[in-house]
Amino acid sequence: MFQASAPGKIILFGEHAVVYGRPAIAAPLHRLQATAQVMPGRPGQGVVLELPDIGQRATLADAASQPLAQVALLTLAALGLDQQPDWTVSLRSTIPLASGLGSGAAAAAAIVAALAGAAGVTFSPAQLSALVYESETRFHGTPSGVDNTVIAYRQPVWFVRGQPPQPFALSRPLTLVVADTGIASPTSMAVGDVRRGWLADPAAYEAWFDAVGQVVQAARRAIEEGDVAALGRLMDRNQASLQAMQVSCAELDALCLAARQAGAWGAKLSGGGRGGNMIALASPEQAEQVATRLLHAGAAHAFVTEIR
Ligand code: PMV
Repeated sequence: MFQASAPGKIILFGEHAVVYGRPAIAAPLHRLQATAQVMPGRPGQGVVLELPDIGQRATLADAASQPLAQVALLTLAALGLDQQPDWTVSLRSTIPLASGLGSGAAAAAAIVAALAGAAGVTFSPAQLSALVYESETRFHGTPSGVDNTVIAYRQPVWFVRGQPPQPFALSRPLTLVVADTGIASPTSMAVGDVRRGWLADPAAYEAWFDAVGQVVQAARRAIEEGDVAALGRLMDRNQASLQAMQVSCAELDALCLAARQAGAWGAKLSGGGRGGNMIALASPEQAEQVATRLLHAGAAHAFVTEIR
């Protein structure tokens, strides 16, 4: 009846510091997608979510405990549907869970867009982003909003919390290797630890956030100039600050080192850290070699992708 998809995402620069008002640059990962399909259901069933990837089935009565039921409820309200339509929404996703690739926000965005589409409405990226954000805040405290933004706009974005996002086009495509530590790491825990660290030693954390902010500003210039070597060095600097904030881990550090040794221009964790994924910037010619080296260095998965 109606189907909609949303991409995964990576954070190129600025995770964690973005929660404290510094800029971040994020980009969609179009090769990973969450797809929601709305089909007519049985009369009287209301909205039912089929979530086979996590072996769950939910109704809107589960909204207090199931984030995707929550976002469906918010969407019906935004659509002005007082009465639940009898729709079955089934969600499939190729985005690994809890690994910093935006699985939760993409699933929510796909559900919002599919429900809207079934009701004959097309939300703007800003509307889509706001609905996903609202549902995320109910479960994840105070996310910066970078995930829902890049996923809803489907374009690289320059993001500062509380400001309108600036989608932009890259001057040239970037070849990235994305590798998974295989360690599931909920973002909320890393974000909570940074919060506790910042409260205990605000001066140190503010200095690291500032250092990240400067890296992100410089990265924007390097992206505009297509200077990939400079961009790689900036990724390394960003990673050093993330290490200082203690959101990296031995496995992420080992993968970043292996990527650099295999000829990548630079490497860093992407997302909440403590596990999940890292990214390495490489030339198109060297990328497969970097991916192979990452697998040898212990990555559970690695793939090459192009950011445009
Ligand atoms: O959702 P993740 O794991 O890709 O990370 C989100 C980025 C953080 O800066 C760590 C948190 C946030 O709300 O921006």
